[in-house]
Amino acid sequence: MTDRYAVIGNPIAQTKSPKLHAAFARQFGHDMTYEAILGPIGGFAEAVRAFRAAGGKGMNVTVPFKVEALELADRLTERARLAQAVNTLKFDEDGSILGENTDGVGLVRDIQGRVGVALRAKRVLLLGAGGAARGALLPLLEEQPSRLVIANRTPAKAEALRARVAAYGNVAAGGFADFAGEQFDVVINATSASLSGEDVPLPVGSYAAGSLAYDLVYGKGNTPFMSHALENGAAQVADGLGMLVAQAAEAFYLWRGVRPDVTPVIDMLRAA
Ligand code: ATR
Repeated sequence: MTDRYAVIGNPIAQTKSPKLHAAFARQFGHDMTYEAILGPIGGFAEAVRAFRAAGGKGMNVTVPFKVEALELADRLTERARLAQAVNTLKFDEDGSILGENTDGVGLVRDIQGRVGVALRAKRVLLLGAGGAARGALLPLLEEQPSRLVIANRTPAKAEALRARVAAYGNVAAGGFADFAGEQFDVVINATSASLSGEDVPLPVGSYAAGSLAYDLVYGKGNTPFMSHALENGAAQVADGLGMLVAQAAEAFYLWRGVRPDVTPVIDMLRAA
């Protein structure tokens, strides 16, 4: 029997997930479908239940339902709990729902795989303290950087995040100007500044020799953050398209037990 999966969000027309999962399924010859569902505002849980009752095996969850998905899940992974958001649901045989968050792990896999930069023992600067930064934190710390600094326009929000993960490594927090004079090997922009075409005001000299600047945003060419990084000593920049594909690949792995090759799928999206 064909296994059914779906992504649910509102709006949903823009989603690339069906294309990604169709490409993954082709790699393994898996018999599955993956559809996009417009979730009604106020009717998320009901829509999930209906999909499951119709034979659904799992769902991806996108804006604005990631917190409702967290509440709906019977069990959460540690990553989802720390992210306080769920982007993947797995409907288990025993009737329970597992909630996972693959966004941060997708970021880490993209940095260490496609981009080719190891995070272990590196100095990492994470910009932003919203949902995207929160999702990235635990997966980044699991790679054991020597130091992780969370810098945010509103420093109190960075400090609140730091307090949640202090047990997992050497973590500091503050405003953008608080780390002037310190150099970083990997700088990750998890703010939404690039979406509105704005730069993030980093101190001059933040980029160590050979450093990477990674923007979670994709489809905008070089963002002001990426251009600024190249002008200020970063050796390479990357956008978030690889993370998009890698987080989907992690969801596929959770459901299907096999890891797709992301490279041809990233190439397919770039060409489109
Ligand atoms: P997301 O889910 O994408 O993380 P969010 O939770 O609304 O979205 O968080 C947006 C993040 O981008 C916040 O860290 C925000 O900083 P504040 O906490 O100070 O609001 C940051 N951000 C948004 N626009 C920014 C800008 N122009 N410059 C710097 N940081 C910005």
